[in-house]
Amino acid sequence: MGTIILGTGSCLPSRVMSNVELESIVDTSDEWIRTRTGIENRRIGGTGEKTYQLAASAARNALEMAQVDAEEIKLLVVGTVSSHMLMPSCACYVQNEIGAASAFAYDLNAACCGFLYGLDAGDRYVRTDTQSKVLIIGAETLSSRVNWQDRNTCILFGDGAGAAVLGHSDNSERKIIGTNHRSDGGLWDLLYMHNAPSQNPDLLVEDNPGAHIIMEGREIFKHAVKAMEEAIFGLFKKTGLSIDDVDVMIPHQANFRILNKLLERLEIPREKVVLNVMHYGNTSAASIPLGYWDNRGKFEPGTSRIEIDVAFGAGFASGAILRRVG
Ligand code: ACO
Repeated sequence: MGTIILGTGSCLPSRVMSNVELESIVDTSDEWIRTRTGIENRRIGGTGEKTYQLAASAARNALEMAQVDAEEIKLLVVGTVSSHMLMPSCACYVQNEIGAASAFAYDLNAACCGFLYGLDAGDRYVRTDTQSKVLIIGAETLSSRVNWQDRNTCILFGDGAGAAVLGHSDNSERKIIGTNHRSDGGLWDLLYMHNAPSQNPDLLVEDNPGAHIIMEGREIFKHAVKAMEEAIFGLFKKTGLSIDDVDVMIPHQANFRILNKLLERLEIPREKVVLNVMHYGNTSAASIPLGYWDNRGKFEPGTSRIEIDVAFGAGFASGAILRRVG
């Protein structure tokens, strides 16, 4: 008995921005971006493609695959740091868009771990209320939050959304097997984004250049690899499983070099790993559910397998989830 994913969905903006197009915006090159990050293209939101609109579209796909009506959803969580509004939540906009009238809805701010932590919350909710259906979404339009004059950051990110519908299964095998998460607020200043300047002079934050992503790339690289490795090995210790038991790995897609280093340390064959960062860039909370979508149909229905999700992002926040699927 446990929580399973009943359906997944995704939505990407129609506009593709290539590395070559970026060459006309900042002092960079296709060659530099490819060799340093593996990214070739990213999607950029346009009219009608705000975070909640991408999220709602991904949600509709997931509900359709799950054959669940929007009104059956009891909990709706959106992992995001790039909603067009600070309040109400992106999740409430999505609720309204899709007609999930029975749900309670909230946003979850855990940067690139937003979907993963949402999945954890959803799993625990379903286990305490086994009749309920839950909708977890990761959605971002970070194109609205990067400084397009900063070549260190604007080349990395892309927009998109992915969603998963969760429900209870009586099958003792298929379920979320375990989770292992950790945050380290002491390292917040290696990757952050300001809010709008305070209207209370006593609460003003100095050197606030606006709501842009600011990061120390090299430091993040080191911490990302280490934290994801620790999340995975910690989870294996908790569950008694090992890397050899894993059939599919769906990591947060930050960039190829981070992922290559992680795969090398885990000694997991590349063909077991879902990689899409070359097409979408770093879509933060959306990257893992976009990976689910890209991986759909790779196995015959009913094929039993173990999948692992792993992520790292601002906070710092990191974590991993093991699921038995099929
Ligand atoms: N185009 C051309 N040159 C560039 C660019 C660019 N877009 N960006 C930086 N450079 C230059 C720098 O100015 C520097 O030039 P200099 O030697 O003359 O000073 C040179 O390239 C090397 O810069 P570094 O920052 O040292 O480059 P590095 O090899 O570390 O690669 C990168 C940078 C790709 C950002 C790497 O540090 C990295 O992958 N970090 C992880 C960051 C990340 O993924 N953040 C996403 C959010 S967190 C997450 O999702 C896990």
